[in-house]
Amino acid sequence: MKLEVCENKRIAKNTFSLKIDNPALFDASPGQFFMVKINDFDYPLLRRPFSIADFSDRYIEIIYKVVGEGTKILAGKQKGDFLDLLGPLGNGFGDIKKGKKIFLVGGGIGAAPLIYLSNTLKSMYGISYEAYFGFNTKDEIYVDFGKTATMDGSSGYAGNVVDMIESQLDENCLVLACGPTLMLKRLAYVCYQKKCSMKVSLESRMACGIGVCLGCVVETTDKDFKRVCVEGPVFDYREIEWQAL
Ligand SMILES: Cc1cc2nc3c(=O)[nH]c(=O)nc-3n(C[C@H](O)[C@H](O)[C@H](O)COP(=O)(O)OP(=O)(O)OC[C@H]3O[C@@H](n4cnc5c(N)ncnc54)[C@H](O)[C@@H]3O)c2cc1C
Ligand code: FES
Repeated sequence: MKLEVCENKRIAKNTFSLKIDNPALFDASPGQFFMVKINDFDYPLLRRPFSIADFSDRYIEIIYKVVGEGTKILAGKQKGDFLDLLGPLGNGFGDIKKGKKIFLVGGGIGAAPLIYLSNTLKSMYGISYEAYFGFNTKDEIYVDFGKTATMDGSSGYAGNVVDMIESQLDENCLVLACGPTLMLKRLAYVCYQKKCSMKVSLESRMACGIGVCLGCVVETTDKDFKRVCVEGPVFDYREIEWQAL
């Protein structure tokens, strides 16, 4: 569906907030994503997946980091331009029940889907949570809530976000996480040790986004494979064969 860009502005180092008009034709859950066609012509050829950073009946927000050709072109989009979006896709974080102490844990651009999740937890379910976000440096921070860690110590806790929260986790906690694979691997190990529950949103390279190409599969602990775009991107961390990532 072709939708109009309302705003596309830089919010941190190499990081942009893109707001797209929502004609209120569909609804979307936190953790779901859109496949975005970057141009009217076929370059880049494949759509790029982006999580929903916020969603209302007025607009869809995507927060993205410029890492390659597609996101570089996206950064040049202006108010009034049109983008072709496919979605919302994937399963999302699903129902979050009250009872556990909830930790939102994001790393870098992986914090983006947790913004929409945090808004939903608060407004729809009245569930409280603690949020922790890790970045490399202060100028990469684009979230305005929760506690932050920076690898260079320029803001908040000095070090990685997993070390920051590790001592607080136990079997009464539910972690909802998204971030770089290395961070998630370490977090999975900590959650396993502490008998803590965790739902994790994975990012893998995607070609189709609709379950056809099998380009996005991850190995699961039952020696099977699951498609991140259809069965995910959110999984119970115990389903994932972390050593294969
Ligand atoms: C479900 C899902 C949700 C995502 N949500 C967001 C989001 O909200 N914001 C955001 O900025 N990005 C998000 N991503 C990642 C985003 O899709 C890629 O950064 C984007 O496709 C890069 O396009 P490009 O053409 O700029 O880079 P390319 O030229 O395609 O690649 C540039 C570099 O980035 C690496 N790269 C590209 N895609 C990925 C990936 N999926 N995982 C790891 N490394 C990758 C490549 O290996 C290469 O080194 C998400 C990915 C998935 C699968
Ligand atoms: S991206 Fe094609 S099957 Fe998932």
